[in-house]
Amino acid sequence: MIKIAFFDTKPYDVANFERFGKEADIKFKFLESKLNEDTVDLAAGYDGVCVFVNDTVNSAVIDGLVSRGVKMIALRCAGYNNVDLSYAKGKITVVHVPAYSPHTVAEHAIAMLLTSVRRIHKAYIRTRDFNFSLNGMTGFELNGKTVGVIGTGRIGQAFINICRGFGMNVLAYDKFPLKDSDISYCELDELFAKSDIISFHCPLTSDTYHMLNETTIQSLKKGVVIINTSRGALIDTDALLDGIRSRQIGAVCLDVYEEESDIFFEDNSGHILDDEKLARLLFMPNVIVTSHQAFLTEEALSSIAQVTTDNIVSFLSLGECKNELVCKK
Ligand code: NAI
Repeated sequence: MIKIAFFDTKPYDVANFERFGKEADIKFKFLESKLNEDTVDLAAGYDGVCVFVNDTVNSAVIDGLVSRGVKMIALRCAGYNNVDLSYAKGKITVVHVPAYSPHTVAEHAIAMLLTSVRRIHKAYIRTRDFNFSLNGMTGFELNGKTVGVIGTGRIGQAFINICRGFGMNVLAYDKFPLKDSDISYCELDELFAKSDIISFHCPLTSDTYHMLNETTIQSLKKGVVIINTSRGALIDTDALLDGIRSRQIGAVCLDVYEEESDIFFEDNSGHILDDEKLARLLFMPNVIVTSHQAFLTEEALSSIAQVTTDNIVSFLSLGECKNELVCKK
């Protein structure tokens, strides 16, 4: 039987991983701790570790895993910016889940957009307090607006298809544009200047770090709506706060935040929030924050568990896996 230490377990992870693990003869040890230098010892004696977006897989953790005989790191997510892949290469195999229903994330981006522009978040609170006033609730139509989509991979394309259904004009930027597609690509400058709404769907890399910053915010259309369901550090939070304060940015929908790792996914109610920038964002009436929940649907959870268990079995039983990011060889 294959033994996997499963870090940063949440209650919604367990049922699907137990189900697919049983079918694949994998025994998961569900641990609440995140993987980092202090917790790497918990992986001793396991064939592999299964980790998520806010586990830390830096060089020290990789050395710690290798020295404890761990053979693989199975990411149960698509993004891998939390893993030092270049350091892992040649030392340990890293696999991920490249796709698990891109509709799940695209639909969440749209849900946040509609909530913001039709003020649903305010209406929900007002009507519960028997306040049926409409003052300050005027929204705007999506039909006819220009949406700029940064990253036209699986999620970006699903998002574009939904936007087209709303009658929006789509402009897109991708470092590697799709060939033979009907998507209207343009340069990033043009997208920033022309879009009423901008949605990020590219990975976090050294190229994309703080893509939205003090300089690029100056070039945006006044009142633009920013949606980020990709990775927090695509946006410089200080510049974002300034952009909201100066009214250059009209509304913000964030499912991710650059300093989310110690805050998101946890119940911090009853505690003083130590993160001043996040606190300021949460106090702004035109900012909506969800805590990295865009992936959280029944369909995606089941698909993530299935692909992850397939990845583990392929690598540990057959010695190779099609979803390898780097391998030990
Ligand atoms: P994908 O790999 O299918 O597409 C990414 C696209 O970004 C590709 O077309 C690629 O060419 C493009 N790209 C790469 N470098 C770029 C650059 N410098 N500038 C512009 N575009 C660039 O990935 P997918 O599945 O569409 O996911 C996109 C991102 O969504 C992931 O990287 C991940 O960070 C995020 N994500 C967030 C989730 C959440 O729960 N909030 C869940 C799943 C993914």
